[in-house]
Amino acid sequence: MKRRCSRLRRSNRFLAGDDRALNAKQQAGLRTFIATGCTACHNGTLLGGMTFQKFGLVKDYWLETGSEKPDIGREAMTKKAEDRYVFRVAMLRNVAKTAPYFHDGSVAQLDKAVRVMAAVQLGRQLDDQAVASIVAFLESLTGDVPVHYAAPAGTQ
Ligand code: HEC
Repeated sequence: MKRRCSRLRRSNRFLAGDDRALNAKQQAGLRTFIATGCTACHNGTLLGGMTFQKFGLVKDYWLETGSEKPDIGREAMTKKAEDRYVFRVAMLRNVAKTAPYFHDGSVAQLDKAVRVMAAVQLGRQLDDQAVASIVAFLESLTGDVPVHYAAPAGTQ
């Protein structure tokens, strides 16, 4: 029987150290993703979901997302000022299939979401080539969501 090899499994194999599991474009994209600083927050098996971080570290996020009503984030629940604009780091598994983006769905396109992140979290303006490269890597994360998948406890 032919072994089914989903793209998700290939990216898992790559992250586990098999550097032939992603194509050259996707590998270049992963390098750009790391070099840009995205892995500071998007890390672990699901490339996110592990921590809460401020959305808009470098500049107010709504200036880039165009969000109509900025949401205060976790402060609404915890009532602590330091939780203002703090959100759970989004998991990037299947991200190419889960538009629109961010907690308020304010951004429809993945390439724009990548630009927003670079600008508001890292203070970087990515050129078209860097954005396309990161998007190629993010597209390699598409695959079946594991049947027994459940978000880690305490992260919702
Ligand atoms: C300082 C932490 C941090 C860094 C660095 C960071 N992110 Fe994020 N990212 C977040 C948080 C927090 C969210 C969730 C924001 C929300 O829900 O509104 C997020 C959301 C996203 C989303 C939207 C996912 C979805 O399903 O809505 C994408 C895509 C993304 N990040 C990609 C990137 C890329 C690419 C980089 C590097 C250029 C990056 N991030 C750097 C914290 C970070």
